[in-house]
Amino acid sequence: MDSGCYSALIVPAIGTWPRFDSPLRLGVMASGAGTNFEALHNAISCGDLDARIHLLVVNNPGCEAIQRASRLNIPCELRDHRQFASREAMDEDLVTTFRNEGVEAVVMAGWMRIVTPVLIDAFPGRLINIHPSLLPAFRGMDAIGQCLTSGVTIAGCTVHEVQKDVDTGPVLAQAAVPILEGDDREQLARRIQKQEHQLLPWATALAGQRWRSAAGTQG
Ligand code: GAR
Repeated sequence: MDSGCYSALIVPAIGTWPRFDSPLRLGVMASGAGTNFEALHNAISCGDLDARIHLLVVNNPGCEAIQRASRLNIPCELRDHRQFASREAMDEDLVTTFRNEGVEAVVMAGWMRIVTPVLIDAFPGRLINIHPSLLPAFRGMDAIGQCLTSGVTIAGCTVHEVQKDVDTGPVLAQAAVPILEGDDREQLARRIQKQEHQLLPWATALAGQRWRSAAGTQG
């Protein structure tokens, strides 16, 4: 059973989308299918999220996110982590790349690599991540599998500011998703992703309000 009325138990009240003097200048990072990246793009296209995606960076050659970027006409660059001597070296490259594109904040939209202080400190409070659990529960790899084997009955997703320890940092927004009888990983993942696609653009807008007001300007 996966009827619409069970698709989400609790989602944040999505209010009026904030407008800025100029659109938020976003960089996005993805490792796989890129559905959250496309959800950000869609929220921008329909006029909800006042932002522009300047660049998508992926770390896996051939990942589906590359085709999405091409279809959506968004610049995409590959940074294959296997080509770097260390995590720090890769993050230095990412910082330079995003700065060169004039990016003010970076969204990890399905980025499956641990990031280091090199990237985190370059975008203080402006590096955000989506994770498929109600943090602080089920940090790290295979959050959905962890959730299913734990016996909890409510799963969900979290958008948070990135800090040094994996999947920690101030929460921006969360959505709760029920685990239904007989759910397997794929079914639960699909239901969680449906919520992620609403949550990530909204949390990005909320974070954008903070970034712009901290900078003392809306522009
Ligand atoms: C999303 O469900 C996201 O929460 C998860 O990867 C998926 C990416 O899907 N992220 C993590 O697990 C990070 N720890 P997508 O490529 O279709 O957006």
